[in-house]
This record gives sequence, C-alpha cells and structure tokens, in this order.
Amino acid sequence: MDLYCVMGNPVEHSRSPWIHARFAELTGQALEYGRRQAPVDGFAQALAQFRTSTQGQARGCNVTVPFKFDAAAAAEHLSDRAALAQAVNCLSFREDGVHGDNTDGVGLVNDITRNAGLSLAGRDVLLLGAGGAAAGVLGPLLASGARRVVVANRTLGKAIALVQRHAAAALPHHAEVEARALDDLSGQFDVLVNATASSLAGDAVPVSADVLKPGALAIDMMYGPAAAGFLAWAARHGATPRDGLGMLVEQAAEAFEIWRGVRPPAAQVLAELRAIVG
Ligand code: ATR
Repeated sequence: MDLYCVMGNPVEHSRSPWIHARFAELTGQALEYGRRQAPVDGFAQALAQFRTSTQGQARGCNVTVPFKFDAAAAAEHLSDRAALAQAVNCLSFREDGVHGDNTDGVGLVNDITRNAGLSLAGRDVLLLGAGGAAAGVLGPLLASGARRVVVANRTLGKAIALVQRHAAAALPHHAEVEARALDDLSGQFDVLVNATASSLAGDAVPVSADVLKPGALAIDMMYGPAAAGFLAWAARHGATPRDGLGMLVEQAAEAFEIWRGVRPPAAQVLAELRAIVG
C-alpha cells in the first residue's frame, strides 16, 4: 500500500486525510493517508522517520504550518513555483530523491476561477500579508491573467522583498506587481485575499473596506470559526465572502495529481466537505 501523510504542528484538526481518502475512493486509487505531528524544531527528523519506518511504502507528504520553509530546505529538487515561494507544501519521494512543490497558489487560483466562477483576467488583486501563506500564492496569482497584484503587509519591508523576488516572474504575464503598507493603499480591487494571520489571531481585518470594489470577491485563507469575522466584514461591505475551504481542497487535488497522475473531482469533494464543516 502506498503511504502519504500530512505533517504539521498542530495537525490533529487537518482535513487533508479525509480529502485524500475521498479522492482515492472516487478515483479508485489504493493508498493510505494519515497525519503526523512533528516537533516544532524537528521536521527533518520526523520526515526521515516517516520514510524509514514505513518499509519503503511512503510515497510523499503534505506539509503544513509551521514547516513549509523546512520542507523547502529538505527537498533535493524544487519545482519553479516552490523555488519562487521558498516554501513547500507537497513532497514526493522518488528514485532520484525528494521533490518539493507548492500547490497552494494554483489551489487558490483554481478555487477562484472554477469554484467561485470568477475569471482573473484583467483583474486587480490585493494580497494581504507577506509571510509564508502569501509567498505560496503570489507567483500563481501573477500568472493567472490578473492585471495588477498589490501585496500589502503590516511590515512594508517584507512585502517589498516578496515583490522584488517575483518581479522577473511577473514580466512574461504582463502583470503589474507592487508592495504597499496596509495603511497606504489607494484604489479599489476586484479580489481581496487575506493571507495574514489576523483571522487566526482573532484580530480585526487589517485593511479599510474602501479597498473593495462593489461586489468584489473577498477570500480568507482560513475556514471554520477562524474565518467568521472576515466573512461577516466582507458581507457587511457589499463583497462576496469566501473562506479557504475551496483552496484547501484544490491544493490537495493538485498534490493528488502530482502523486497519482489522476485528477480527482475537487468540486464534488468540496461540496461534500462543506456539508460536513458547515
Ligand atoms: P504564514 O506562514 O501563515 O503566512 P507568517 O509567515 O508568520 O505566517 O506570516 C504572518 C503574516 O500575517 C505576516 O504577513 C504578518 O505581518 P508582519 O509581516 O507585519 O508580521 C501578518 N499578520 C499577522 N497578524 C496580523 C495582524 N493582526 N494584522 C495584520 N497582519 C498580521
């Protein structure tokens, strides 16, 4: 049996085992997918242990908070998008070593375009945050056809560094990319993506509602109770609120395809998961 898992800390509430079990069922793939909590300073050892303790059956793992940077360091080969993000959420164990990829950004873009039904072509996107979560999605947002992506962060220097790292990647897509402080924003946006930890911390949405075009799509990467404050704020200001559940399922679908070579029915699994999560 091929084995996979999600590694994180904490990891007990992760929905990934359920999502991948459902993908496997629906595509007829034989695999097992579990969860493993790694010590905060012991990702590399936990990864090695997963590989050695499973008699060669381990084929890969997803990586979640706080290990996406450790996973990038542990990978012997990085995809272009993982190298740009400097963060990895999907590891594949192959004959020539450990391959690292990042499926978060394509997961977000697929959720917006396929599940929310909004084409990003020509859109103005505001990405809040410049930590690991924002780094994982900026490249695919720039490649999505968006006209302009503004990265706004509490600490301006981090937004500038993230934007500078992506400047060359934006060029072939003719996308404008710009760094701003949260309190120095002008204009209005079609799509707002909250990739800060503000929702998780129970803090207020860190930007004025003036940034929203009427009917804008406002997405928080969180889901469940953590996203509730942001979703209520978005609805109150005339935006279409969206939580991170669709991105979660879509990034998993991309990982599943990398591992198994089969595209699972993400929209169906998202609908089923939404019925469970509420
Ligand atoms: P993650 O991997 O989840 O992105 P991270 O790398 O620690 O976590 O980044 C957290 C992000 O949330 C950062 O952009 C952080 O802003 P700073 O760079 O200024 O620290 C942002 N953040 C956290 N709490 C916030 C809050 N209450 N308001 C605004 N931004 C916040």
